[in-house]
Amino acid sequence: MKKEKIKILIIDDDPKVSWLLSEGLSDYEFVSARDGSEGIQMVTTEKPDLVLLDIKMPGISGLEVLERLSRLPSRPEIIMLSGHGETDNIAKSKHLGAAEFIHKPFEVKEIEIRVQAVLEAKKLREEVRELKSQLKSRNQYEQFIGDSPKMMQVKSIIEQVAGSELTVLIRGESGTGKEIVARMLHNMSTRADEPFTKVNCAAIPRDLLEAELFGYEKGAFTGAHKTKPGRFEVANKGSIFLDEIGDMPLELQSKLLQVLEQQEFVRVGGIHNIHVDVRIICATNKNLEEAIRRGGFRDDLFYRLNEITVFLPPLRSRTEDISLLVNHFLKKYGDLYQKPTMALSPETMSKLLQFAWPGNVRQLENLIKQVVVRGDESIVTEMLSNLIHSPEYVQTPDLPPSGGSPAVLSESGNVFSLKHRVGAAIANEERRLISEVLTKTNWNRRKAADLLEISYRSLLYKIKEYNLNSIK
Ligand SMILES: Nc1ncnc2c1ncn2[C@@H]1O[C@H](COP(=O)(O)OP(=O)(O)OP(=O)(O)O)[C@@H](O)[C@H]1O
Ligand SMILES: [Mg+2]
Repeated sequence: MKKEKIKILIIDDDPKVSWLLSEGLSDYEFVSARDGSEGIQMVTTEKPDLVLLDIKMPGISGLEVLERLSRLPSRPEIIMLSGHGETDNIAKSKHLGAAEFIHKPFEVKEIEIRVQAVLEAKKLREEVRELKSQLKSRNQYEQFIGDSPKMMQVKSIIEQVAGSELTVLIRGESGTGKEIVARMLHNMSTRADEPFTKVNCAAIPRDLLEAELFGYEKGAFTGAHKTKPGRFEVANKGSIFLDEIGDMPLELQSKLLQVLEQQEFVRVGGIHNIHVDVRIICATNKNLEEAIRRGGFRDDLFYRLNEITVFLPPLRSRTEDISLLVNHFLKKYGDLYQKPTMALSPETMSKLLQFAWPGNVRQLENLIKQVVVRGDESIVTEMLSNLIHSPEYVQTPDLPPSGGSPAVLSESGNVFSLKHRVGAAIANEERRLISEVLTKTNWNRRKAADLLEISYRSLLYKIKEYNLNSIK
């Protein structure tokens, strides 16, 4: 281990100890305190890497100093020094977290060896902790599938902001993975070992939501028999995930804004401010800008929540991820139901690639789960055709055999949009007719354009748009 500027605090009433060590061990920086109270103070002001602590001192004893230092959130390594090495003191010191116990009189060399060993062990522990946290991040990614450019962008934002204290707003349609992202942001942060609390603002009746989030005092309302802390208090030092934030009632939005600005709030029926240290992560599939225009969402809260936005793209806009997700779910449910991992045929996979997935990854996951449970991929065709004929689904023109763009929902996400449905039907008919005329004219594009009574250029454009292909 490199002995560069390691700072050691000696707490001993005997000045000889400090003199001996600083003379004998020139590679370390020594500071010293003559009694326990001075020593405790110097731990905070000097921030030493290690403390050599005498047990028998006037005033506070070494064991008491050790006990007080153990209450600090983080403290340096401590080696006890004593001429009175009864087994009782050794046991107590170990129990209170001392790393070593050295008998007086000691050899300077012995101190050097023990100090090195203690600091090396500390460094190893830190390395293990760091590796564990890296492993945790990697495990997070193993559950978060997608390497399309859009998802790579999402992952890079997550990596950049996970360690920060910034409030994150996660947006995206239902089933795109907003909750997974919220959990990843917590698990990859320094708060990972502290609580992660999820509150679904849409699922809790509005008159109960305030008490749920901020807690209540005994007698605050009928049924409040005893004081109860809210989710913000439970999440202290950790993260709170406010899901469906777009459904939070206006009156609560101002209270939330106060927590965001001052990290303080008052319980329902309470008078005292409660201070919390909580990181806030929110998610919504609602159009918050629209809600602001309608007066249903505070714009100041929106700007405060929106410090960082992670936008999860719909599955239909990143079809490259579908086969990865399919294989991930085949393995996940194969393992869960103790069945051999299935592989889908290229024909089935191509059907999955061409579907619009209005329910996004959740819908794909449910479908694959059923394939695994029933051990039969042929149900994909049956289920997709049921879904396509359901009113929630809007399809673009028939897909050419060679592939083409996947079916899409209306841009606004409104599946009943008349404009979009009619547009899709017209496009469907247009594609069919052009394809028929091209076959009839043996792919003579000029003849086909004449017959269709459109310009040659528009025909070329439409052939490209509909991905029509002369090779069948
Ligand atoms: N990228 C992904 N990799 C693996 N699984 C995913 C991914 N995205 C979503 N899922 C899975 O899809 C399901 C839905 O994800 P999640 O609950 O996070 O969606 P959501 O965006 O919160 O949806 P909602 O708005 O309906 O609450 C979960 O089972 C989740 O594990
Ligand atoms: Mg969700």
